[in-house]
Amino acid sequence: MASLARTFASSLSNRTYTTGAASAPALKRFFSVATSNKEEEDSVKQRSVGGLLNRSQVNAISSQSVMQARHSTTNIPDFSKYKKTKNSGEASRTFAYMMIGSTGLLTAAGAQATITDFLSNMSASADVLALAKAEVELASIPEGKNVTIKWRGKPVFIRHRTESEIAEANTVNVAELRDPQQDAERVKDPKWLVMLGVCTHLGCVPIGEAGDFGGWYCPCHGSHYDISGRIRQGPAPLNLEIPEYNFQEDKLIIG
Ligand code: FES
Repeated sequence: MASLARTFASSLSNRTYTTGAASAPALKRFFSVATSNKEEEDSVKQRSVGGLLNRSQVNAISSQSVMQARHSTTNIPDFSKYKKTKNSGEASRTFAYMMIGSTGLLTAAGAQATITDFLSNMSASADVLALAKAEVELASIPEGKNVTIKWRGKPVFIRHRTESEIAEANTVNVAELRDPQQDAERVKDPKWLVMLGVCTHLGCVPIGEAGDFGGWYCPCHGSHYDISGRIRQGPAPLNLEIPEYNFQEDKLIIG
């Protein structure tokens, strides 16, 4: 019995990681082994009493029994199935690259959609685009008359010129002009002169059918424009600007 106690104490002292949950089955196993060891020890002692074994042989058999009991309580679970195999590192890297690439693609697609929405919201709406063009019924402007309309916040002069005004515009010696330009370069149809009504000096609005050259006069600093809108006298450096325009049937489309 003393040997059994020693075995139990030795077993407990050598167990450093058996948890409380695991201790019950371990103790059960221990007592099972110890009981069988005790039977074996009794058998050995009986044989020793009979003169078959000496004391050292008995002790050796007892030590072997103790070791067997100790091993039976310190079984380590098999975690080999959780260990990485040799090629698992490469597979993990491939998976990581795939995830990074997929995430990058999704991020790029999201960013593109966001930017597209943002730019489409920033662009001009349909009503603003409609205001970007101006339509004028040509039949509403009699020959020899001016009409001023507003386009993109600026005045536009439309002059229905007479034959004599067209002839006068073409008799000017262009070489003497400050901003040399043939009348034909400034009109698409000689009958219709279309210009921005903004003085090229400091931006005043000239007055029609005024000045020394039968065209427009800017009262701000005294610039005179002829019947083709070319600067003839005064501080303005350039001719009145011609906007983009087209004729569509009986309409003038500006813009
Ligand atoms: S702004 Fe027209 S002449 Fe100065």
